[in-house]
Amino acid sequence: MIKLLIDCDTGVDDSIALLFALHRKDVEVMGISTSIGNVTAAQAADNTMRVLKLAGKEGQVPVCVGAEKPMVGTCEDFPDFIHGKNGLGEIELPESSQKPVDMDVCDFLYEKACEADGEAVLVTLGRMTNIAHTLQKYPDFPAKIKRVVSMGGTVNGPGNVAPMVEANIGGDPEAADLVLMAPWQVTMVGLDVTLKTVMHMEDVKMARGYCREECRPVLDFMMQELQHYMKGARMQNWMRECCPLHDPLAMIVAVDPSVVLTQKRITRVETGGTYCRGMFVTDLREQPIEGRFVEHCMQVDERKALNELFAVFN
Ligand code: BDR
Ligand code: CA
Repeated sequence: MIKLLIDCDTGVDDSIALLFALHRKDVEVMGISTSIGNVTAAQAADNTMRVLKLAGKEGQVPVCVGAEKPMVGTCEDFPDFIHGKNGLGEIELPESSQKPVDMDVCDFLYEKACEADGEAVLVTLGRMTNIAHTLQKYPDFPAKIKRVVSMGGTVNGPGNVAPMVEANIGGDPEAADLVLMAPWQVTMVGLDVTLKTVMHMEDVKMARGYCREECRPVLDFMMQELQHYMKGARMQNWMRECCPLHDPLAMIVAVDPSVVLTQKRITRVETGGTYCRGMFVTDLREQPIEGRFVEHCMQVDERKALNELFAVFN
């Protein structure tokens, strides 16, 4: 069993990533914490619990609300034009009777990591604020985690919130730098590969046609929320009737690293600057700046990734 500990800001693509993980037979989701980003952390937790209910896992996976602001400053506007006001493309999923656990997010993540006995893969799909706080509170947190897989950043560009800056890293650069500097293995699934993994509405329609009967409501929901998300992709990426696969690709890489080719580079996160705050600085020189090797995804097998995503519903 692959044990996953997930931190996300449940918007449209996070919800698809969660539904994929929750339907994989070889995956056990140990816990989910939420951060600000697409919506508030509280709204992200509410969305997550609705998604759990849709997946038939209501009350089976603990959900913890995380930090409502980044390490420095406050949170600017939420990207409604991509994820809708509620984060799920304006689609109202039935409410869940589950309540978030009443715990500090750092205690939650550390406790869950200990429970997994060093076997949990930590997957982050939003800002890294909760993870950075946990590292500060529990410096031995990395020793309790098998590896980290994160959706975020870009190495060769372009970014999506500034020329070379991706939203999850740009939303809390200080947190991201702390996480990248911690002594664990980090794989970044950035825009270099997520923008090249394109899902068309036709793909989802086809998957709905072939899916198991009990998964049909899941595929119906995905088709509905993707209508809003694809409008956002049209505005942001000039894509038509399709969208990039950000968070779902990170989740796929967490369970099957063979869908990507990676390169390790000494990496820091720029925390100053006008246009570059939140940008990855990778140093290829013989005598680089102080930093740790981070594994960046450089190429993706797009077809294989899409097939893996939909295979869980077959
Ligand atoms: C990332 O930002 C969020 O809007 C998405 O959910 C994804 O995690 C893409 O830049
Ligand atoms: Ca996300």
